[in-house]
Amino acid sequence: MTTDFLVIGSGIAGLTYAVKVAEAQPQKSVLVLTKTTADETNTKYAQGGIAGVWNDENDSFNKHIDDTLVAGDGLCNPTTVEAVVKEGPERIREIIGWGANFDKDDDGDYSLGREGGHSEDRILHHKDVTGKEMERALLHKVATLPNITIINHCFVIELITQHHLGYLVMKTTPNITCYGVYVLNLKTKEIEKIVATTTLLATGGNGSVYRTTTNPAIATGDGVAMVYRAKGRVENMEFIQFHPTALFEQGLKGHAFLITEAVRGDGGILRNHKGEAFMERYDSRKDLAPRDIVARAIDSEMKINGTEHVFLDCRHFDVEKFIHHFPNIYDKCKSIGIDISRDMIPVAPAAHYSCGGIQTNLHGATTINQLFAAGECASTGLHGANRLASNSLLEAMVFAHRAAQASLATPASTPTAEIPDWDARGTTTPREMILITQSLKELQLLMSDYVGIVRNNVRLERASRRLDLLHLEVEELYRTSKVSPQLCELRNMITVGYLIVKGAQFRHESRGLHFNTDYPQKSALLQNIVL
Ligand code: FAD
Ligand code: SIN
Repeated sequence: MTTDFLVIGSGIAGLTYAVKVAEAQPQKSVLVLTKTTADETNTKYAQGGIAGVWNDENDSFNKHIDDTLVAGDGLCNPTTVEAVVKEGPERIREIIGWGANFDKDDDGDYSLGREGGHSEDRILHHKDVTGKEMERALLHKVATLPNITIINHCFVIELITQHHLGYLVMKTTPNITCYGVYVLNLKTKEIEKIVATTTLLATGGNGSVYRTTTNPAIATGDGVAMVYRAKGRVENMEFIQFHPTALFEQGLKGHAFLITEAVRGDGGILRNHKGEAFMERYDSRKDLAPRDIVARAIDSEMKINGTEHVFLDCRHFDVEKFIHHFPNIYDKCKSIGIDISRDMIPVAPAAHYSCGGIQTNLHGATTINQLFAAGECASTGLHGANRLASNSLLEAMVFAHRAAQASLATPASTPTAEIPDWDARGTTTPREMILITQSLKELQLLMSDYVGIVRNNVRLERASRRLDLLHLEVEELYRTSKVSPQLCELRNMITVGYLIVKGAQFRHESRGLHFNTDYPQKSALLQNIVL
């Protein structure tokens, strides 16, 4: 199969890019691949909303820029921040034009919410299901463009580069070029090659590397792992954002239901088991301090009191207003016996967002020719050491647009030799799935226990040693087995775990989301850890 534009991922980044290139060049083909169904994305689960300077009377670009830089703790690229903040409102207007609905107040103006680290109300939202609404609008728009094809259940295994033409490719090789991908078609079970002039990676996050995450199961860091294997650059992987308030459900592992920060924006108060509103002891911004501070404060309270969670108190809310703004959360709480007017909501931090990722320039270009990246899998310089709430949907749209513009201007580059078919010689169907499922459990456990919110050198070293062993075992399995999505995801997650641990070990300081008790201070040296 060949295509002009190949898009891997159908979340906000992939679909925005697909629309842009398809509209600009209707004679060219755009192929979007997803590993499950088109709407099963991190995007669909976004709750709080999308940040943007909307109300010019109180807000300004400079305020949003400052808030982003403060949260990023010295590591944001100021040029990226300025571009995203200033171009963001135009992108939001565009998706409104494509049919996305955001809530309005009684005067017909957009109703703007507040989240941690924002100095003004600037979050546009659709109830507490903003991402679902944006994903719906994007899929609807895509369906109107005949040159876009979406193929579901198509698992991308590897990027095709000169390596597959028989050349030795190393990190130092100049002009590594992406010619397309090998995919496992989950319907036919065949491995196919797709040759593309330009490829965009929009594969989303990697929360599944941890035992408890707000991310859906698709978030396994595939794009980052593929780029790393193809010898492209990946950076700042140690900055994993833990959302402070995932719903705590006894015995639950894997996907945790999020209680959006917008609930604290509307006045929700965090309390420990003694009923104390503890955030005032940690930060003057209390419950609306940036996420790294709130997550660490909760972690500390849980450790001091020997508990598995704290509480979010919404008992003082007007219930009708709560239901109006947060119907999804209200229903979820009710379904497990929590009446928010009488009961406090048990919450605990969960892995939520990857601030680092595939290194890109200001136009979404990666260090591999003909390969772009946007959305959560990319590291554009916007988030630095900690992402400001609701900045990621914004970044995804701005960078999808920028990558589309750059892709349209990039001349084609043809491979120097015939791209070979996938070579599956010497592989057999694995007899025991337990080898894969058990390794995954081990990975998630070690990442949660040793590479969580608070880190130290001994724990990181332990994690590193255990990851080395898992890596050896799983590479052997990969070499000898017919590939399956489970095996590929496990392999990718081990690579991502390795990158997070290496980033954490190389960073001899505590900054933003990375807190190492052996280096509690910030270093004077501002650096990105590039792997
Ligand atoms: P995704 O939307 O995750 O899409 C990834 C796509 O890649 C999927 O289609 C998947 O099938 C595909 N894919 C991955 N690997 C492969 C492969 N190997 N082969 C084929 N396809 C593949 N951000 C905000 O700004 N505001 C919020 O309110 C907000 N709330 C959030 C709430 C939750 C619960 C979560 C989890 C995240 C939230 N975020 C929020 C973060 C934000 O939703 C994500 O960062 C963003 O949606 C990521 O979009 P994306 O397009 O990069 O990737
Ligand atoms: C939330 O709604 O709390 C999540 C917002 C985000 O991750 O940006």
